[in-house]
Amino acid sequence: MTVKRLLLLGPPGAGKGTQAARLEKSLHVPQVSTGDMLRAAVDAETEVGKLASSYMERGELVPDSVVIRVAGERLKQDDAKRGFILDGFPRTAPQAEALDELLDAMDRPLQRCLSLAVDENVIVKRLMRRAEIEGRADDNEETIRNRMRVYREQTAPLVDYYEKRNLLVEVDGDGSIEEVAERLEAAVAA
Ligand code: AP5
Repeated sequence: MTVKRLLLLGPPGAGKGTQAARLEKSLHVPQVSTGDMLRAAVDAETEVGKLASSYMERGELVPDSVVIRVAGERLKQDDAKRGFILDGFPRTAPQAEALDELLDAMDRPLQRCLSLAVDENVIVKRLMRRAEIEGRADDNEETIRNRMRVYREQTAPLVDYYEKRNLLVEVDGDGSIEEVAERLEAAVAA
């Protein structure tokens, strides 16, 4: 089976975006990042962006109804028919259930969930470094810690959710970008 419909799960700074961009090239299917879509909406000052910005600044999750709509519209686009790499969605149980329903209705169920595990101190270092380089609004220590807490409370339970569906593969996200990429390629091919 060629895996083309997959999800990268992991805490902030785990490398989801970095690795999704690489997988996009090797698998020839689009990366679908709700974080990128929401940041674009904030920059464009759309209704979604205006609603999302205060949540994002605080490191809180944008309400499920909004994110489910944004991700759903993206997944219905033509290029996602070939497959997709979900990055940062779903992040709550209702989002995961909505995703399952949507993909079942399209007869294109998720094939694999790759869960990236990285030590919290490594994450803080990575994100503080990105703050210096890129100045992303939510990359300050207080908001990073809050994003981690939100991950532990609301998103980490999805590891069980996907394990029960026999879709989960855990991947060590520590190490160089290249090393993690090799582990992910192996997990996709397995
Ligand atoms: P989102 O953009 O998804 O942010 P995040 O999950 O906090 O993810 P990051 O981009 O910080 O981390 P990443 O795992 O993608 O790592 P990356 O590759 O970038 O979400 C932002 C906000 O939007 C949320 O807080 C929320 O408000 C909202 N939102 C988004 N989706 C939502 C949803 N589904 N529901 C509700 N709200 C939602 O790497 C991080 C840094 O580390 C980079 O500088 C990178 O170069 C570096 N790096 C990566 N890998 C390595 C490595 N192996 N070694 C050294 N450095 C590395």
